[in-house]
Amino acid sequence: MRLEDPVTIGGLTIPNRLYRAPLLECAGNGEDAVDRLVSELEPAAEAGAGLVCQGATVVRGEGGCAAPGMTRVHDPAFVSRLSRLTDRIHDHGSTIAIQLEHGGLRSMETWHAGYREANPDVQQLAVSRPPWPLRLLDRVGFLSYDPRVMTTEEVYDLAADFGRAAGHAVDAGYDAVHLAGANMGVVQQFLSPFYNRRDDEFGDGVRFLEVVHDEIRAAAGDVPLLTKVPAETAAPPFVRRRLSEADAVDVCRRLAERGFDALVPVVGSVFWDMSIVRGAYPERAWRDDRFRAGYADAFGGRLRAKLVALGNRVESLAYDFDPAWNAGLCAAIRDAVDVPVLAEGGIRDRGQIDSLLGSDCDMVGRARPFYAEPRLPARLLDAGADTRAACRSCNNCTVPQVTGADGVCRTPDVLDAVGRLRKAGAYDREERS
Ligand SMILES: Cc1cc2nc3c(=O)[nH]c(=O)nc-3n(C[C@H](O)[C@H](O)[C@H](O)COP(=O)(O)O)c2cc1C
Ligand code: SF4
Repeated sequence: MRLEDPVTIGGLTIPNRLYRAPLLECAGNGEDAVDRLVSELEPAAEAGAGLVCQGATVVRGEGGCAAPGMTRVHDPAFVSRLSRLTDRIHDHGSTIAIQLEHGGLRSMETWHAGYREANPDVQQLAVSRPPWPLRLLDRVGFLSYDPRVMTTEEVYDLAADFGRAAGHAVDAGYDAVHLAGANMGVVQQFLSPFYNRRDDEFGDGVRFLEVVHDEIRAAAGDVPLLTKVPAETAAPPFVRRRLSEADAVDVCRRLAERGFDALVPVVGSVFWDMSIVRGAYPERAWRDDRFRAGYADAFGGRLRAKLVALGNRVESLAYDFDPAWNAGLCAAIRDAVDVPVLAEGGIRDRGQIDSLLGSDCDMVGRARPFYAEPRLPARLLDAGADTRAACRSCNNCTVPQVTGADGVCRTPDVLDAVGRLRKAGAYDREERS
Protein backbone atom coordinates (compact mmCIF):
# COMPACT_ATOMS: atom_id res chain seq x y z
CA MET A 1 0.00 0.00 0.00
CA ARG A 2 1.62 3.28 -1.15
CA LEU A 3 0.71 6.86 -0.37
CA GLU A 4 0.18 7.39 -4.10
CA ASP A 5 -2.38 4.54 -4.40
CA PRO A 6 -6.10 5.36 -4.67
CA VAL A 7 -8.47 4.37 -1.87
CA THR A 8 -12.24 4.02 -1.69
CA ILE A 9 -14.38 5.36 1.16
CA GLY A 10 -18.06 4.46 0.94
CA GLY A 11 -18.03 4.38 -2.87
CA LEU A 12 -15.93 7.56 -3.24
CA THR A 13 -12.63 6.97 -5.00
CA ILE A 14 -9.92 9.19 -3.56
CA PRO A 15 -6.91 9.53 -5.87
CA ASN A 16 -4.27 8.94 -3.16
CA ARG A 17 -3.97 8.27 0.56
CA LEU A 18 -2.80 11.69 1.74
CA TYR A 19 -5.34 14.00 3.36
CA ARG A 20 -5.33 17.45 4.92
CA ALA A 21 -6.70 16.87 8.42
CA PRO A 22 -9.36 19.34 9.64
CA LEU A 23 -7.90 22.62 10.86
CA LEU A 24 -9.87 25.69 11.81
CA GLU A 25 -9.93 28.18 8.96
CA CYS A 26 -11.73 30.89 11.00
CA ALA A 27 -13.43 31.97 7.77
CA GLY A 28 -16.77 32.84 9.42
CA ASN A 29 -19.94 33.44 7.38
CA GLY A 30 -19.31 36.91 6.01
CA GLU A 31 -19.12 38.11 2.41
CA ASP A 32 -15.48 36.95 2.18
CA ALA A 33 -16.04 33.51 3.79
CA VAL A 34 -15.95 31.52 0.55
CA ASP A 35 -12.89 33.39 -0.77
CA ARG A 36 -11.10 32.71 2.50
CA LEU A 37 -11.94 29.01 2.41
CA VAL A 38 -10.82 28.77 -1.22
CA SER A 39 -7.51 30.45 -0.48
CA GLU A 40 -6.97 28.19 2.54
CA LEU A 41 -7.99 24.86 1.03
CA GLU A 42 -7.34 25.03 -2.70
CA PRO A 43 -3.52 24.91 -2.46
CA ALA A 44 -3.67 21.47 -0.80
CA ALA A 45 -5.86 20.12 -3.63
CA GLU A 46 -3.83 21.84 -6.34
CA ALA A 47 -0.65 20.35 -4.90
CA GLY A 48 -2.11 16.83 -4.97
CA ALA A 49 -3.84 15.97 -1.65
CA GLY A 50 -6.30 13.13 -2.29
CA LEU A 51 -8.77 14.43 0.30
CA VAL A 52 -9.12 17.86 1.88
CA CYS A 53 -11.01 17.93 5.19
CA GLN A 54 -12.41 21.36 5.95
CA GLY A 55 -12.14 22.41 9.61
CA ALA A 56 -15.13 22.03 11.92
CA THR A 57 -18.31 23.88 10.93
CA VAL A 58 -21.22 24.39 13.29
CA VAL A 59 -24.63 22.82 12.55
CA ARG A 60 -26.69 25.53 14.30
CA GLY A 61 -27.16 29.25 13.81
CA GLU A 62 -26.64 30.11 17.47
CA GLY A 63 -24.17 28.89 20.10
CA GLY A 64 -22.01 25.78 19.74
CA CYS A 65 -18.87 27.46 18.30
CA ALA A 66 -15.72 26.14 19.98
CA ALA A 67 -13.59 29.07 18.77
CA PRO A 68 -14.05 32.52 17.21
CA GLY A 69 -14.75 32.73 13.49
CA MET A 70 -16.03 29.21 12.92
CA THR A 71 -18.24 28.85 9.87
CA ARG A 72 -21.88 27.92 10.50
CA VAL A 73 -23.65 25.60 8.06
CA HIS A 74 -27.30 25.68 9.18
CA ASP A 75 -28.40 28.07 6.43
CA PRO A 76 -28.93 26.45 2.98
CA ALA A 77 -28.49 29.80 1.20
CA PHE A 78 -25.02 30.23 2.73
CA VAL A 79 -24.00 26.60 2.19
CA SER A 80 -24.99 26.73 -1.49
CA ARG A 81 -22.34 29.45 -1.94
CA LEU A 82 -19.72 26.87 -0.91
CA SER A 83 -20.18 25.14 -4.28
CA ARG A 84 -17.54 27.59 -5.55
CA LEU A 85 -15.13 25.99 -3.07
CA THR A 86 -16.06 22.40 -3.90
CA ASP A 87 -15.80 23.16 -7.65
CA ARG A 88 -12.29 24.53 -7.18
CA ILE A 89 -11.22 21.41 -5.26
CA HIS A 90 -12.72 19.14 -7.94
CA ASP A 91 -11.00 21.14 -10.72
CA HIS A 92 -7.72 19.73 -9.35
CA GLY A 93 -8.94 16.12 -9.26
CA SER A 94 -9.17 16.14 -5.46
CA THR A 95 -12.08 15.51 -3.05
CA ILE A 96 -13.42 17.48 -0.09
CA ALA A 97 -15.14 16.57 3.18
CA ILE A 98 -17.07 18.98 5.36
CA GLN A 99 -16.68 18.49 9.10
CA LEU A 100 -19.82 18.95 11.23
CA GLU A 101 -19.65 20.01 14.85
CA HIS A 102 -21.45 21.36 17.89
CA GLY A 103 -19.30 22.36 20.85
CA GLY A 104 -21.82 21.55 23.63
CA LEU A 105 -20.03 22.32 26.90
CA ARG A 106 -16.92 23.27 24.95
CA SER A 107 -18.60 26.23 23.26
CA MET A 108 -17.27 29.81 23.43
CA GLU A 109 -20.12 30.73 25.76
CA THR A 110 -18.26 28.64 28.37
CA TRP A 111 -14.72 29.96 28.12
CA HIS A 112 -14.54 33.21 26.15
CA ALA A 113 -15.15 36.14 28.51
CA GLY A 114 -15.68 38.73 25.75
CA TYR A 115 -18.13 36.52 23.88
CA ARG A 116 -20.07 35.75 27.08
CA GLU A 117 -20.38 39.43 27.85
CA ALA A 118 -21.70 40.14 24.36
CA ASN A 119 -24.07 37.13 24.42
CA PRO A 120 -25.26 36.83 28.03
CA ASP A 121 -28.30 34.70 27.17
CA VAL A 122 -26.62 31.92 25.23
CA GLN A 123 -26.65 28.69 27.25
CA GLN A 124 -24.48 25.65 26.61
CA LEU A 125 -26.14 22.49 25.36
CA ALA A 126 -25.17 19.81 27.83
CA VAL A 127 -25.36 16.03 27.65
CA SER A 128 -25.56 15.91 31.47
CA ARG A 129 -24.76 18.22 34.37
CA PRO A 130 -21.10 19.28 33.95
CA PRO A 131 -18.64 17.01 35.79
CA TRP A 132 -17.12 18.27 39.06
CA PRO A 133 -13.72 19.49 37.73
CA LEU A 134 -15.57 21.78 35.31
CA ARG A 135 -17.97 22.95 38.03
CA LEU A 136 -14.91 23.76 40.14
CA LEU A 137 -13.43 25.85 37.31
CA ASP A 138 -16.79 27.59 37.06
CA ARG A 139 -16.79 28.34 40.78
CA VAL A 140 -13.29 29.89 40.68
CA GLY A 141 -14.25 31.94 37.63
CA PHE A 142 -12.16 30.36 34.86
CA LEU A 143 -15.14 28.94 33.02
CA SER A 144 -18.72 30.07 33.12
CA TYR A 145 -21.48 27.54 32.94
CA ASP A 146 -25.13 28.09 32.33
CA PRO A 147 -25.86 24.66 30.91
CA ARG A 148 -29.11 23.35 29.58
CA VAL A 149 -29.19 19.56 29.78
CA MET A 150 -30.90 18.35 26.62
CA THR A 151 -34.15 16.43 26.88
CA THR A 152 -34.44 13.27 24.81
CA GLU A 153 -36.42 15.21 22.23
CA GLU A 154 -33.77 17.95 22.08
CA VAL A 155 -31.10 15.32 21.42
CA TYR A 156 -33.12 14.11 18.44
CA ASP A 157 -33.44 17.75 17.29
CA LEU A 158 -29.68 18.21 17.46
CA ALA A 159 -29.09 15.01 15.49
CA ALA A 160 -31.57 16.27 12.88
CA ASP A 161 -29.52 19.48 12.58
CA PHE A 162 -26.45 17.39 11.75
CA GLY A 163 -28.55 15.63 9.10
CA ARG A 164 -29.88 18.88 7.59
CA ALA A 165 -26.38 20.42 7.46
CA ALA A 166 -25.08 17.28 5.71
CA GLY A 167 -27.90 17.53 3.17
CA HIS A 168 -27.04 21.18 2.38
CA ALA A 169 -23.35 20.23 2.09
CA VAL A 170 -23.99 17.43 -0.38
CA ASP A 171 -26.15 19.79 -2.46
CA ALA A 172 -23.16 22.17 -2.50
CA GLY A 173 -20.90 19.45 -3.92
CA TYR A 174 -19.07 18.10 -0.86
CA ASP A 175 -17.90 14.52 -1.47
CA ALA A 176 -17.98 13.32 2.14
CA VAL A 177 -19.26 14.24 5.58
CA HIS A 178 -16.91 14.09 8.55
CA LEU A 179 -18.04 14.39 12.18
CA ALA A 180 -15.92 16.25 14.73
CA GLY A 181 -16.10 13.36 17.17
CA ALA A 182 -12.85 13.71 19.09
CA ASN A 183 -12.18 17.35 19.87
CA MET A 184 -14.11 17.46 23.15
CA GLY A 185 -17.22 18.70 21.33
CA VAL A 186 -20.72 17.36 21.83
CA VAL A 187 -20.11 14.03 20.07
CA GLN A 188 -17.24 13.24 22.44
CA GLN A 189 -19.39 14.44 25.35
CA PHE A 190 -21.99 11.82 24.42
CA LEU A 191 -19.36 9.07 24.02
CA SER A 192 -17.45 9.89 27.20
CA PRO A 193 -18.49 8.47 30.61
CA PHE A 194 -16.82 11.56 32.11
CA TYR A 195 -19.60 13.72 30.61
CA ASN A 196 -22.46 11.36 29.91
CA ARG A 197 -24.57 10.33 32.92
CA ARG A 198 -27.91 10.25 31.16
CA ASP A 199 -30.57 7.75 32.08
CA ASP A 200 -32.42 7.78 28.75
CA GLU A 201 -31.43 5.87 25.58
CA PHE A 202 -28.59 8.40 25.00
CA GLY A 203 -26.85 7.22 28.17
CA ASP A 204 -25.29 4.91 25.61
CA GLY A 205 -23.31 7.61 23.75
CA VAL A 206 -22.95 5.59 20.56
CA ARG A 207 -26.71 5.90 20.23
CA PHE A 208 -26.27 9.62 19.46
CA LEU A 209 -23.91 8.81 16.57
CA GLU A 210 -26.34 6.15 15.35
CA VAL A 211 -29.18 8.66 15.24
CA VAL A 212 -26.91 11.25 13.57
CA HIS A 213 -26.00 8.55 11.03
CA ASP A 214 -29.66 7.87 10.30
CA GLU A 215 -30.47 11.58 9.99
CA ILE A 216 -27.56 12.06 7.56
CA ARG A 217 -28.68 9.06 5.49
CA ALA A 218 -32.23 10.48 5.38
CA ALA A 219 -31.11 13.98 4.34
CA ALA A 220 -27.95 13.28 2.33
CA GLY A 221 -28.36 9.71 1.01
CA ASP A 222 -25.34 7.45 0.90
CA VAL A 223 -22.73 10.21 1.13
CA PRO A 224 -19.45 8.75 2.48
CA LEU A 225 -19.56 9.32 6.23
CA LEU A 226 -16.57 9.37 8.53
CA THR A 227 -16.02 10.41 12.11
CA LYS A 228 -13.22 10.96 14.54
CA VAL A 229 -13.45 8.62 17.53
CA PRO A 230 -11.69 9.41 20.81
CA ALA A 231 -9.90 7.23 23.32
CA GLU A 232 -9.50 9.34 26.44
CA THR A 233 -6.30 7.64 27.52
CA ALA A 234 -4.40 10.94 27.78
CA ALA A 235 -6.68 12.32 30.52
CA PRO A 236 -5.09 13.26 33.88
CA PRO A 237 -5.00 10.38 36.41
CA PHE A 238 -7.68 11.92 38.69
CA VAL A 239 -10.23 11.43 35.90
CA ARG A 240 -11.50 7.96 36.66
CA ARG A 241 -14.49 7.74 34.30
CA ARG A 242 -13.25 7.96 30.74
CA LEU A 243 -13.27 6.20 27.40
CA SER A 244 -10.56 3.53 27.36
CA GLU A 245 -8.85 2.20 24.25
CA ALA A 246 -10.96 -0.97 24.52
CA ASP A 247 -14.11 1.24 24.67
CA ALA A 248 -12.96 3.13 21.55
CA VAL A 249 -12.43 -0.15 19.67
CA ASP A 250 -15.93 -1.22 20.66
CA VAL A 251 -17.40 2.15 19.59
CA CYS A 252 -15.69 1.82 16.21
CA ARG A 253 -16.95 -1.73 15.72
CA ARG A 254 -20.52 -0.56 16.33
CA LEU A 255 -20.15 2.49 14.07
CA ALA A 256 -18.78 0.39 11.20
CA GLU A 257 -21.69 -2.02 11.63
CA ARG A 258 -24.15 0.87 11.58
CA GLY A 259 -22.81 2.14 8.25
CA PHE A 260 -20.01 4.64 8.95
CA ASP A 261 -17.63 4.43 6.00
CA ALA A 262 -14.31 5.37 7.63
CA LEU A 263 -12.97 6.08 11.13
CA VAL A 264 -10.32 8.47 12.46
CA PRO A 265 -9.14 7.29 15.91
CA VAL A 266 -7.63 9.97 18.13
CA VAL A 267 -6.09 9.65 21.59
CA GLY A 268 -7.00 12.61 23.77
CA SER A 269 -8.11 13.85 27.12
CA VAL A 270 -11.55 14.67 28.50
CA PHE A 271 -10.55 18.38 28.62
CA TRP A 272 -9.82 20.85 25.85
CA ASP A 273 -6.08 20.69 26.34
CA MET A 274 -2.99 20.02 24.23
CA SER A 275 -3.46 16.25 24.12
CA ILE A 276 -4.79 16.43 20.55
CA VAL A 277 -2.14 18.91 19.36
CA ARG A 278 0.98 17.55 21.00
CA GLY A 279 4.04 19.69 20.80
CA ALA A 280 5.94 22.51 22.44
CA TYR A 281 4.75 25.36 24.64
CA PRO A 282 4.02 28.24 22.23
CA GLU A 283 6.35 30.75 23.87
CA ARG A 284 6.46 33.16 20.94
CA ALA A 285 2.66 33.27 20.52
CA TRP A 286 2.05 34.10 24.19
CA ARG A 287 4.66 36.87 24.10
CA ASP A 288 3.41 38.42 20.87
CA ASP A 289 2.24 41.99 21.63
CA ARG A 290 -0.24 41.94 18.74
CA PHE A 291 -2.38 39.39 20.61
CA ARG A 292 -2.13 40.60 24.23
CA ALA A 293 -5.38 42.57 24.15
CA GLY A 294 -7.17 39.67 22.43
CA TYR A 295 -5.93 37.19 25.08
CA ALA A 296 -7.16 39.52 27.84
CA ASP A 297 -10.57 39.78 26.13
CA ALA A 298 -10.83 36.01 25.68
CA PHE A 299 -9.70 35.02 29.17
CA GLY A 300 -11.20 37.89 31.15
CA GLY A 301 -8.18 40.09 31.90
CA ARG A 302 -4.39 40.12 31.65
CA LEU A 303 -3.81 38.21 34.88
CA ARG A 304 -6.20 35.45 33.86
CA ALA A 305 -4.48 35.26 30.45
CA LYS A 306 -1.14 34.81 32.25
CA LEU A 307 -2.58 31.99 34.33
CA VAL A 308 -3.92 30.27 31.22
CA ALA A 309 -0.44 30.60 29.67
CA LEU A 310 1.02 28.98 32.78
CA GLY A 311 -1.48 26.13 32.51
CA ASN A 312 -0.52 25.78 28.85
CA ARG A 313 3.14 25.45 29.88
CA VAL A 314 2.31 22.68 32.34
CA GLU A 315 0.19 20.88 29.73
CA SER A 316 3.00 21.01 27.20
CA LEU A 317 5.14 18.99 29.63
CA ALA A 318 2.45 16.31 29.83
CA TYR A 319 1.67 16.37 26.11
CA ASP A 320 5.05 16.83 24.51
CA PHE A 321 5.43 15.91 20.85
CA ASP A 322 5.22 12.17 20.23
CA PRO A 323 5.71 10.95 16.65
CA ALA A 324 2.56 9.35 15.16
CA TRP A 325 0.94 9.26 18.60
CA ASN A 326 -2.35 7.75 17.38
CA ALA A 327 -0.76 4.87 15.44
CA GLY A 328 -1.25 2.20 18.16
CA LEU A 329 -4.94 3.04 18.58
CA CYS A 330 -5.42 3.07 14.80
CA ALA A 331 -3.84 -0.39 14.49
CA ALA A 332 -6.08 -1.83 17.22
CA ILE A 333 -9.17 -0.40 15.52
CA ARG A 334 -8.07 -1.46 12.04
CA ASP A 335 -7.92 -5.06 13.31
CA ALA A 336 -11.52 -4.79 14.52
CA VAL A 337 -13.32 -3.14 11.57
CA ASP A 338 -13.53 -3.59 7.83
CA VAL A 339 -13.71 0.09 6.83
CA PRO A 340 -10.71 2.35 6.15
CA VAL A 341 -8.93 3.77 9.18
CA LEU A 342 -7.34 7.21 8.86
CA ALA A 343 -4.30 8.14 10.97
CA GLU A 344 -3.19 11.67 11.90
CA GLY A 345 -1.32 13.32 14.75
CA GLY A 346 2.44 13.91 14.69
CA ILE A 347 3.13 12.20 11.37
CA ARG A 348 6.02 14.19 9.99
CA ASP A 349 8.24 12.19 7.62
CA ARG A 350 7.65 10.14 4.53
CA GLY A 351 9.43 7.03 5.88
CA GLN A 352 7.02 7.03 8.84
CA ILE A 353 4.05 7.29 6.45
CA ASP A 354 5.29 4.33 4.41
CA SER A 355 5.61 2.16 7.52
CA LEU A 356 2.15 3.12 8.86
CA LEU A 357 0.18 2.53 5.64
CA GLY A 358 -1.19 -0.97 5.33
CA SER A 359 -0.32 -1.96 8.91
CA ASP A 360 -1.74 0.76 11.16
CA CYS A 361 -3.97 2.69 8.75
CA ASP A 362 -5.30 3.13 5.21
CA MET A 363 -4.79 6.89 4.82
CA VAL A 364 -2.46 9.39 6.45
CA GLY A 365 -3.33 12.96 7.41
CA ARG A 366 -1.41 15.98 8.54
CA ALA A 367 -2.83 19.15 10.07
CA ARG A 368 -0.36 21.80 11.37
CA PRO A 369 2.13 21.00 8.58
CA PHE A 370 -0.47 22.38 6.14
CA TYR A 371 -0.40 25.76 7.92
CA ALA A 372 3.37 25.83 7.37
CA GLU A 373 3.25 24.42 3.84
CA PRO A 374 -0.14 24.84 2.16
CA ARG A 375 1.25 23.02 -0.91
CA LEU A 376 2.84 20.24 1.15
CA PRO A 377 1.54 17.31 -1.00
CA ALA A 378 3.68 18.44 -3.93
CA ARG A 379 6.76 17.79 -1.81
CA LEU A 380 5.52 14.61 -0.18
CA LEU A 381 3.99 12.55 -2.98
CA ASP A 382 6.51 10.44 -4.90
CA ALA A 383 9.16 11.54 -2.40
CA GLY A 384 11.97 9.69 -0.65
CA ALA A 385 11.76 8.29 2.89
CA ASP A 386 13.72 11.20 4.39
CA THR A 387 11.32 13.92 3.18
CA ARG A 388 10.18 15.73 6.33
CA ALA A 389 7.49 18.31 7.03
CA ALA A 390 8.83 21.80 7.78
CA CYS A 391 6.42 22.17 10.73
CA ARG A 392 8.13 21.85 14.12
CA SER A 393 4.96 21.34 16.18
CA CYS A 394 5.80 24.45 18.21
CA ASN A 395 2.10 25.43 18.41
CA ASN A 396 2.65 29.15 17.79
CA CYS A 397 -0.23 28.90 15.31
CA THR A 398 -2.74 27.58 17.85
CA VAL A 399 -3.03 30.14 20.67
CA PRO A 400 -3.65 33.31 18.59
CA GLN A 401 -6.81 31.65 17.25
CA VAL A 402 -8.54 32.36 20.58
CA THR A 403 -8.42 36.02 19.51
CA GLY A 404 -9.98 35.25 16.12
CA ALA A 405 -6.60 35.42 14.32
CA ASP A 406 -6.10 33.43 11.12
CA GLY A 407 -4.75 29.90 11.21
CA VAL A 408 -1.27 30.35 9.74
CA CYS A 409 2.26 29.32 10.63
CA ARG A 410 3.76 31.97 12.92
CA THR A 411 7.32 30.76 13.38
CA PRO A 412 9.77 32.86 11.31
CA ASP A 413 12.56 30.34 10.80
CA VAL A 414 10.03 27.71 9.64
CA LEU A 415 8.56 30.24 7.21
CA ASP A 416 12.07 31.10 6.00
CA ALA A 417 12.78 27.43 5.36
CA VAL A 418 9.49 27.11 3.46
CA GLY A 419 10.41 30.19 1.42
CA ARG A 420 13.71 28.59 0.43
CA LEU A 421 11.93 25.37 -0.56
CA ARG A 422 9.48 27.39 -2.65
CA LYS A 423 12.31 29.19 -4.46
CA ALA A 424 13.94 25.85 -5.15
CA GLY A 425 10.71 24.65 -6.84
CA ALA A 426 9.82 22.06 -4.17
CA TYR A 427 6.10 22.89 -4.40
CA ASP A 428 5.83 22.87 -8.18
CA ARG A 429 3.69 20.03 -9.42
CA GLU A 430 1.98 19.11 -12.62
CA GLU A 431 -1.79 19.01 -12.29
CA ARG A 432 -3.44 15.62 -12.58
CA SER A 433 -6.42 17.03 -14.46
C1 LIG B 1 -5.23 25.11 15.19
C2 LIG B 1 -5.86 23.76 15.09
C3 LIG B 1 -7.19 23.63 14.75
C4 LIG B 1 -7.77 22.36 14.66
N1 LIG B 1 -9.08 22.25 14.26
C5 LIG B 1 -9.64 21.02 14.19
C6 LIG B 1 -10.97 20.88 13.75
O1 LIG B 1 -11.63 21.87 13.36
N2 LIG B 1 -11.52 19.65 13.75
C7 LIG B 1 -10.81 18.54 14.13
O2 LIG B 1 -11.35 17.44 14.11
N3 LIG B 1 -9.53 18.63 14.51
C8 LIG B 1 -8.92 19.84 14.53
N4 LIG B 1 -7.61 19.94 14.88
C9 LIG B 1 -6.82 18.70 15.14
C10 LIG B 1 -6.11 18.26 13.84
O3 LIG B 1 -7.03 17.79 12.88
C11 LIG B 1 -5.08 17.13 14.11
O4 LIG B 1 -5.73 15.99 14.58
C12 LIG B 1 -4.00 17.54 15.11
O5 LIG B 1 -3.52 18.84 14.82
C13 LIG B 1 -2.82 16.57 15.07
O6 LIG B 1 -2.26 16.50 13.78
P1 LIG B 1 -0.87 17.24 13.40
O7 LIG B 1 0.16 16.74 14.39
O8 LIG B 1 -0.56 16.79 11.99
O9 LIG B 1 -1.08 18.69 13.53
C14 LIG B 1 -7.00 21.20 14.94
C15 LIG B 1 -5.66 21.35 15.28
C16 LIG B 1 -5.08 22.60 15.34
C17 LIG B 1 -3.61 22.71 15.66
S1 SF4 C 1 3.56 27.72 14.09
FE1 SF4 C 1 4.26 26.76 12.20
S2 SF4 C 1 5.89 25.34 12.82
FE2 SF4 C 1 4.73 25.87 14.66
S3 SF4 C 1 3.16 24.24 14.84
FE3 SF4 C 1 2.23 25.95 13.73
S4 SF4 C 1 2.55 25.45 11.57
FE4 SF4 C 1 3.96 24.16 12.75
